[in-house]
Amino acid sequence: NVYAVIMAGGAGTRFWPASRNHRPKQLLALGGDANESLLAATVRRLAPLVPADRVYIATGAHLIDATAAVLPDVPRAQLLAEPVPRNTAPCIGWAAATIARRDPEALIAVLPSDHYILDEPGFRATLERALDGARQGRITTIGIVPTRPETGYGYIELGAELAPGLSSVARFVEKPNRARAEEYVAGKKHLWNAGMFFFHASAMKKAIAAHLPALAAGLDRLDTAAKDGNEAAVLAEVFPTLPSVSIDVGVMEKSADLAVAHGDFGWNDVGSWESAWELAAKDASGNALPDGTVAVDAHRNLVRDLTTDKKKKLVALVGVNDLVIVETDDAFLVIPRERAQDVRAVVDALRTRG
Ligand code: GDD
Ligand code: MG
Repeated sequence: NVYAVIMAGGAGTRFWPASRNHRPKQLLALGGDANESLLAATVRRLAPLVPADRVYIATGAHLIDATAAVLPDVPRAQLLAEPVPRNTAPCIGWAAATIARRDPEALIAVLPSDHYILDEPGFRATLERALDGARQGRITTIGIVPTRPETGYGYIELGAELAPGLSSVARFVEKPNRARAEEYVAGKKHLWNAGMFFFHASAMKKAIAAHLPALAAGLDRLDTAAKDGNEAAVLAEVFPTLPSVSIDVGVMEKSADLAVAHGDFGWNDVGSWESAWELAAKDASGNALPDGTVAVDAHRNLVRDLTTDKKKKLVALVGVNDLVIVETDDAFLVIPRERAQDVRAVVDALRTRG
């Protein structure tokens, strides 16, 4: 049977002020539909392939209630609460071991919770191909043809073709520097890693044992405790000691025998307000504005009213271009779109201020 693990533990600091510790990116409606959170959309578009009773959500303990609220169909016992974030390798290892106790033959699809996907049937067809790679015993990912030298992604060098739309991986490189990324895009032999992973529970267990022995030892302790019925207590003790490392660096960069399914379904990792603007419906001047906004000689701006009572204050823009303007109940942000990544600096400043 096929199971899904949705990774929903990131902080999403690049969406300040919409995102907060208790309200990270995946719980916000940042995709096409203003009423559906990215996390709920992830579970919904998976449903024809993996029903909610085989979906697991890995998130922070402090987010469990908010997560349950947007996912009424996922059984509560399948919301896995990490006491502290330890990045994606521990998250995936723990979830895979949990599923393997239920079904030792499990085929597992690990997906991020915060991506936008345009062509959902196309996405599911690619996912089926990736599962074929996993059935062959390979840890398989999805690759997207790169369109710019993005340094925030992993790059996959294509190996031999295994089946139509499925290739082996010559090399996996996580977040290369700018010069490398430019080389990869120009060379046309690399795909972007879409951050999704497909494998037999046993294949991931083997890979973690080979490349992350400290993690494997910790996961074994958790597994034994779960079988003895006292996982909760051991989790609080063991999870914070697990090595904090991403699956990309900890496993993918080190493994041979990987595969990649070629994907072309309109993918956006919704990394910042800039990508939110790209995805939003826009007027003829490229502005994405609340109804009623007055825009005079203003171009390519994103304005969002995220106040709870939607006061619908009248907003007027005159002679400004390429700005992001966001209002919440307790904050107001104005930033040039091209500096959207820098809202992190606000979060940092607020942290130091305490
Ligand atoms: N449960 C849990 N616990 N989830 C986590 C944790 C954690 O400690 N850390 C991150 N996540 C979740 C995030 O919420 C997101 O859904 C997913 O795991 C990936 O983490 P990111 O932090 O967003 O990774 P990234 O975007 O820098 O890089 C990954 O994704 C890129 C594509 O978007 C890598 O896989 C890259 O290779 C890839 O290109
Ligand atoms: Mg990401």
